Amino acid sequence: TLLRGRLLSFVKAPESLTDSESYRYETDGGLLINNGLIVESGPYAEVKAKVTADAVEIDHRPHLIMPGFIDMHLHFPQMQVIASYAANLLEWLNTYTFPEECRFVESAHAQRIAGHFYDELVRHGTTTAVAYCSVHKTSADAFFAEALKRNMRMVGGKVMMDRNAPQGLLDTPQMGYDETRQIIAEWHGKGRNHVAITPRFAITSTPAQMEATQALAREFPDLHIQTHLSENHDEIKFTCELYPEAIDYTDIYARYGLLGDKTLFGHCIHLSDREADAMSEAGSVAVHCPTSNLFLGSGLFPLKALGRREKPVRIGVATDIGGGSSYSMLRTMDEAYKIQQLLGERLNPLESYYHMTLGNARSLSLADRIGTLDVGSDADIVVLNAAATPAMALKMEVVKTLPEELFLLQTMGDDRAIVETYVAGVAAKSAI
Ligand code: GUN
Ligand code: FE
Repeated sequence: TLLRGRLLSFVKAPESLTDSESYRYETDGGLLINNGLIVESGPYAEVKAKVTADAVEIDHRPHLIMPGFIDMHLHFPQMQVIASYAANLLEWLNTYTFPEECRFVESAHAQRIAGHFYDELVRHGTTTAVAYCSVHKTSADAFFAEALKRNMRMVGGKVMMDRNAPQGLLDTPQMGYDETRQIIAEWHGKGRNHVAITPRFAITSTPAQMEATQALAREFPDLHIQTHLSENHDEIKFTCELYPEAIDYTDIYARYGLLGDKTLFGHCIHLSDREADAMSEAGSVAVHCPTSNLFLGSGLFPLKALGRREKPVRIGVATDIGGGSSYSMLRTMDEAYKIQQLLGERLNPLESYYHMTLGNARSLSLADRIGTLDVGSDADIVVLNAAATPAMALKMEVVKTLPEELFLLQTMGDDRAIVETYVAGVAAKSAI
């Protein structure tokens, strides 16, 4: 397949809005795809000249062709939790989220929702996501089976949780350990699947389960670990009461060996300096979930301040469905921008698109495969139309620069701006 259009991909984190060294932009670009990989990338005429066999040519002009979006944190069993009317995190979990997740013990339900889950990702231009399943192995099986069927690069894990939740949502330290091992054996490396070790958060794991998690992390040092950290003041208070020996919330995870460079911590809104230093030293990732943080009233994540520290913290960005309110990474970064505005900071559009693509890929240590349009990487691609709606088209009449176009897409765009999503070189959106 030969794609033609305006190619945009990042090579490093942008230092300013005028940092044209941070990205590659080809106004009439060509992208040659073979066997799910990008095999040529550059000016259309040059790429076209190299095509030997007959390639199917798809002309996406005047649209933008970018690496597919990466969503670093969301919950597969929360598709029907979205838009639950709760005052705060703990009320939202207990009233809506835990009861809903209980339903995923049924394979048929998990399989049905998995189908919708991947449809929704693809419709929104997301080609890789890092997901929490429910506590039930059935939910992880449905999640990975559907990813395999669609040949998507996905990261996920069954949550481990053995207290402070309804009976139907509890495993035990041994069960969490055994089932996670089974899931790793059955799914990790199968197709493009990656299994993540997934203790939900310290409130729902006993010290014994945290030890089981530590054992898994030691046995499988290459796997990602994902959990939640420092999202809400009541949560932080309750957590620290449960682990009185720890000096703070982050220290709980550190004590169980979970603070490493493959660890993805959702939220991290209210970290102390000590905690941010500890995360920086360990190379752990703070995953910003702006729509969720606003929706649940959790707080304003200091994205710019964390990146500017003497010891900067690695950053990811994510929807956090169903605490989050949109599957769209465009909507997500619009809210991220507004949060920085409220903090008196500027998040420029180059940075936003860097985070959605290469930034998240780097924070996942997967930048050799995804988040770029480099030759040799996976052909996971999104095609964007900044004039997708009448109001956007009207604004586009006065847009002059690439950063302005990106900012318009972020500010007004959603799934309507996604022209096509390619997964491993195959047009996945039009196949839905
Ligand atoms: N903390 C523990 N579980 C969850 C969850 O499902 N969503 C959010 N936003 N925070 C959590
Ligand atoms: Fe979450």
